[in-house]
Amino acid sequence: MAVEKKIRELQEKRSKILLGGGVQAIEKQKAMGKRTARERIMALLDKNSFNEYDLFVEHDARDFDMENKSLPSDGVIIGSGTIYGAPVAVFAQDFTVAGGSLGLMHSRKITKIMDHALKMRMPLIGINDSGGARIQEGVNSLAGYGEIFFRNTISSGVIPQISVILGPCAGGAVYSPALTDFVFVVDNISKMFITGPEVIKTVLGEEISMEELGGARVHSEVTGNAHFFAKSEDECFGQIKRLISFIPRNNSLRAKVSETHEPLNEYHLDKIVPDDPTLPYDVRDVIMAIVDKSDFFEIMEHYARNIVIGFGRMGGRTTGFVANQPLEMAGVLDVDSSDKAARFIRYCDAFNIPIITLVDLPGYLPGIDQEHAGVIRHGAKVLYAYSEATVPKLTVILRKAYGGGYIAMSSRHLRADFVFAWPTAEIAVMGPEGAANIIFRKEIMSSDDPDKTRKQKVEEYKAKFANPYVAASRGYIDAVIEPSETRRFLLHAMQVSENKTVTLPDKKHGLPPF
Ligand code: HXC
Repeated sequence: MAVEKKIRELQEKRSKILLGGGVQAIEKQKAMGKRTARERIMALLDKNSFNEYDLFVEHDARDFDMENKSLPSDGVIIGSGTIYGAPVAVFAQDFTVAGGSLGLMHSRKITKIMDHALKMRMPLIGINDSGGARIQEGVNSLAGYGEIFFRNTISSGVIPQISVILGPCAGGAVYSPALTDFVFVVDNISKMFITGPEVIKTVLGEEISMEELGGARVHSEVTGNAHFFAKSEDECFGQIKRLISFIPRNNSLRAKVSETHEPLNEYHLDKIVPDDPTLPYDVRDVIMAIVDKSDFFEIMEHYARNIVIGFGRMGGRTTGFVANQPLEMAGVLDVDSSDKAARFIRYCDAFNIPIITLVDLPGYLPGIDQEHAGVIRHGAKVLYAYSEATVPKLTVILRKAYGGGYIAMSSRHLRADFVFAWPTAEIAVMGPEGAANIIFRKEIMSSDDPDKTRKQKVEEYKAKFANPYVAASRGYIDAVIEPSETRRFLLHAMQVSENKTVTLPDKKHGLPPF
């Protein structure tokens, strides 16, 4: 009987704590279109898989009348569960308890689950919904953030770290998501900024809403801080699960291999690239024509759209795709697209995911804005990331591969393992028009009909260089292939590269152009 009583006592204690900040606070949370912290975890993980730890943890703050306040679970839920059967560690801040603010014990719970995730080599998913440092706990809150940032950094490249912004993530708190691999945001719910609207009004006298300052759209389209944008929490959880299905649990494993499926019949590689080299096309159609089931999971879809990145499967194996997008600014590399691509290449390399690069670009974007925004430094990140990557690197040149763009986009010279080119490929120092204007300038200027001569010279240049055969004759590309042969060549190259082994010189670490 005594045992039954104790069990009942436990159940009662639990139920009280499970109410979080209470009915009113939960109603307020729901009115904003938000689930509670535990509901979010349940929606994300496999059914009945969640095990919660530290339910009974409470704060021990004493100032500002805190000793008389109970903050259930200290405003954060931690535990582990599974997604598609694979273990994951989770924390979710509970906004109904003191606005999910982070005090000492709250931070200790987070760092405990972070340490656990690292030790067990499993992904960590953090759901952020918090007013930031708990003001009443002063420097203890700041210490807590520091401990989190340190662990984010040390775990980087060892376990996947995923941040989900489902409410405010204000002040220095933003730096934890910024240090993680993938950030998910939801329209009208996510708010992320260093200094809020009130501070901006006081300091700068400017009125701005939280949404305009750091809403989901801003971070998906403008800042590049977010990798996935969703319209609802449910859609967001679906995206997280999909991501988990593509990536390995840690850096010593490979992603799970699925069954091979052919791409859908509706994509025909021979028909996607237009005859006229000045016309655009959607490079995602090329990816869809190559990957299993035509199933491509795009990352940072709304940011720097001149480059496309994401995961697909080739013969059941997770593969990272990096592709210039001719639909957007002719697919040039600029400051933002370089950043986007370089980080993704490093992600793939850290987690044993082969990279397929599809090339069609006129080069780096010229202009004073780009030069002053640091296109040299940011552009160098792409060269660095490809050169350093030791995972299998397969490249297909679809059309233009000019100048620095040719070198940067996983060329042989940066140690691509296989480089294929379509017969439509144009591999040259620059586009035929620009090239002819420079090298034949005197002849064009002194001609009776400069326009006619220019056209002739452009054609001459095109015939000589705007093709893949010069590069093929030097062995810079391995095969000129018909577009319809692409999947077959890539699948074979993937198979051949399975045990690729490369050793880089010993060093503490390199100095990428951050
Ligand atoms: C303690 C906090 C809190 C905080 C919110 N609350 N933020 N308590 N410390 N940082 C409490 C509120 O007092 C309130 O308690 C409850 O949470 C809900 O908050 P509301 O203001 O009623 O909610 P809402 O109107 O939705 O506004 C949410 C908000 C606002 C925009 C996040 O609360 C806010 O501006 N908070 C302060 C944000 C901030 O400046 N944080 C410090 C950033 S500096 P009751 O008891 O009334 O329910 C920082 C430094 C970290 O984080 C540095 C790390 C390097």
